[in-house]
Amino acid sequence: MESVIAALLLIQLLTTQAIKYTVVTETNSVIHRDRDFIESQEGAKKIVVEDDFHVLDEDMIQIRHKTPIFLMEKNYVLHKLEAGAFSDQEISESIVITNSQITVIPTAAFRNLKIFELILKDNEITHVEEEAITDLPNLEVINLSKNKIMLLHDNSFVDAPARFIDLAFNELEEVREKWFSFMSEKEAVMVLLDNNMIRSVDPRSFDGLNLGILNLRDNRIRELPGEIFENDTLSVVYLQNNNLEMLPEAFFDLTHLNLADLTGNSLDCESQKKLEKFHEDSLATVVFEKSC
Ligand SMILES: *[C@@H]1O[C@H](CO)[C@@H](O)[C@H](O)[C@H]1NC(C)=O
Ligand SMILES: *[C@@H]1O[C@H](CO)[C@@H](O)[C@H](O)[C@H]1NC(C)=O
Repeated sequence: MESVIAALLLIQLLTTQAIKYTVVTETNSVIHRDRDFIESQEGAKKIVVEDDFHVLDEDMIQIRHKTPIFLMEKNYVLHKLEAGAFSDQEISESIVITNSQITVIPTAAFRNLKIFELILKDNEITHVEEEAITDLPNLEVINLSKNKIMLLHDNSFVDAPARFIDLAFNELEEVREKWFSFMSEKEAVMVLLDNNMIRSVDPRSFDGLNLGILNLRDNRIRELPGEIFENDTLSVVYLQNNNLEMLPEAFFDLTHLNLADLTGNSLDCESQKKLEKFHEDSLATVVFEKSC
């Protein structure tokens, strides 16, 4: 009899495992909750997840009242994000998930949201599956820095016209065609790819974009395709600490460039000469080590 009761209690414990989280309201009252799923309330400003749990699925988040910010910054044991976890939630500004063990952003993880900022930095992400992030019409910023991403799909992001993407400090070895084609077509975009292991950049990597700022600092690039400079959109380009010996001709035709940093490469004498002339003619700040 006692063991039956114990078993029943155990079952109840397991099935009613609640999630601890905090709702901060517009008037700054702080409401601590412990419920089966995360929900919001009228006048909520921010939801902060305070608990540790291993899996986050669709049934655990049901935010139906408009809430600007969703924060989960210290769920250190979270290792699985299920499809649909962040589908159709009334989160209106930012979602921040950091310091978790998540390795995969699955298809339809983030779908139909009004947020302008998706911060997934400092996790263990290796894969962003096809259509993982879709239908985020207001998206401006995606921060995936400090993960372990090796590859993206050309449709990992769909209908998410961001202007800034930060993929710094990942494990990318190449940049492929169409990875960034989801980004805003109207405004100048910023693509940060520094501190990866990139050796090759596809000539069509940034096709059709108004690429304003490109950071490829601290990679392993020997050669850049001229095509990425051809539409003359760049204003700032960081190329420090690569293995560049020369630059494509199209680079010297850039007319909107303000800054190019090329320190930490072994540019040949001809390229150094061209850069000096380019600097004199264009007034752009061009930084490199002179050795010839
Ligand atoms: C992304 O996060 C990193 C690490 O915290 C930060 O340094 C960087 O400024 C962020 N990027 C953007 C575009 O906000
Ligand atoms: C350059 O601009 C043209 C016309 O807008 C566009 O069709 C082409 O894809 C662009 N090329 C690159 C490399 O962005």
